[in-house]
Amino acid sequence: MKANITAVKDFTISTIDKRIYGSFLEHLGRAIYEGIYEPDHPEADENGFRKDVMKLITDLNMPTVRYPGGNYISSFNWEDSIGPIEERPTRLDLAWKTRETNEFGLNEFITWCRKTNIEPMYAINLGTRGIDAARNILEYCNHPSGSYWSDLRIKHGYKEPHDIKMWCLGNEMDGEWQVGHKTATEYGRLVHEVAKSMRKFDSSLELIIAGSSNEAMPTYPDWEREILEHSYDSIDYIALHKYWTNYEKNTNSYLSSSVPLQEYISTVEGTINYVKAKKRSKKQINISFDEWNPWYHTRDMQTQNYLDKNLSDWPKAPPLYEDMYNILDTLLVGTVLNTFINNSHIVKIGCMAQLVNVIPAISTVKQGISWPQSIYYPLYFASLYGRGDSLQLKVDCPKYSSEIADDVKYIDASAVLNKEKNEVSFFIVNRSENDNCNIDFDLKDFNVDSIIDQQIINNEDIYVANTKDNPNAIKPKKTSIVKLIDNQLSTDIPKLSYLVIRLKLN
Ligand code: AHR
Repeated sequence: MKANITAVKDFTISTIDKRIYGSFLEHLGRAIYEGIYEPDHPEADENGFRKDVMKLITDLNMPTVRYPGGNYISSFNWEDSIGPIEERPTRLDLAWKTRETNEFGLNEFITWCRKTNIEPMYAINLGTRGIDAARNILEYCNHPSGSYWSDLRIKHGYKEPHDIKMWCLGNEMDGEWQVGHKTATEYGRLVHEVAKSMRKFDSSLELIIAGSSNEAMPTYPDWEREILEHSYDSIDYIALHKYWTNYEKNTNSYLSSSVPLQEYISTVEGTINYVKAKKRSKKQINISFDEWNPWYHTRDMQTQNYLDKNLSDWPKAPPLYEDMYNILDTLLVGTVLNTFINNSHIVKIGCMAQLVNVIPAISTVKQGISWPQSIYYPLYFASLYGRGDSLQLKVDCPKYSSEIADDVKYIDASAVLNKEKNEVSFFIVNRSENDNCNIDFDLKDFNVDSIIDQQIINNEDIYVANTKDNPNAIKPKKTSIVKLIDNQLSTDIPKLSYLVIRLKLN
């Protein structure tokens, strides 16, 4: 198979918001307890945070983490998670049928964020609660001093305000499963009033309304239209979520998932623009894709065996949704990140869901090791080398049709120009199950000095995963398949592979 990729230096899409490379931590399964927090682990620091896990996360140069949920937030009282740990109440969490001790809470999360150089993104409960809880947590977190809630924070040992800028107003409120599920009218009105109150405190906050849980929801995309009509002037982002499955082991179809993803993003962008026009507004609402990932390896089994059972003992931090990801999942993640880069004019925040142990980028063993899942690596490369301006690529290559999409290009690509470093990086996925692909690059006005790095992810066994017994089964490998001869770049990318190419420019 042959392909051609053309790039022109000035043909950029947008400057990338680094927060598209974010992640998500929920009080679900072993994400927090035994994940990032395990005070009696040999690697725990003075706060009980696992240093081995922090290292894997800081290696990602992780820009932001959304917390504390997810479905968890819709019946969560934030006040339970502050103050002396021994006085915090243990609660039953209705979303995941578990017992939450609140040992790790709001202030611990902020301390953890400061230590890992992560910007916090905090989600508030609009399932069972509303304006009052929202204005109080905001005062607790962000007001310097001299009021009830800010002085309480100081009493709790946090003199400086947390200064949280990004707030998610509710989670997946379109879903029947959500505690306090609402209609678009109820939710849109509530968000508008909550956002108005929060802005009275600080007009510079970045506020996120929950769009559809996925594009198969019966209310999509009318949900987006209506909630935006209520809240357009008071919010900044609309959140989208999407989880992918490959139960049937249909590689062609699974790897074409970014085509419907593109439609999902384009439709919501169109809906934003429709409401913007209707409101005669100059303001641009952007997309926060704040939950996304493959999720299927453990889902059915655990939903049946665990969540649907009437548990009398609500366990603390049971192992839930501990997916172990294979090469196909890794390639899918590569194509999703490419889609975000290629839509960086509208997608400004993205959170891979989730970060540790639950549908994870990183897995841990209690009292034992931690290791990256294979999906960690495309996020790593994009986060480290995908900062700058995204380039409008022209990709000419053979296409195929799958059960979910037509005109699927075998070669999926994105590229980012970093003017400060004088570098350009290409992120390429070969979706073909059968063929390698000979790619010629037409780099027009780029004057390429040298190849800084070229790394590939693939494996003979496409279903192998990184497990505790074999944590390095899938790892990026240095390669030499990319050639630069007389300013002409070319490569021969094997079937079912992810390739990152970093170029130094003159
Ligand atoms: O990430 C797991 C769950 O998926 C989240 O709690 C919820 O928002 C989504 O349905």
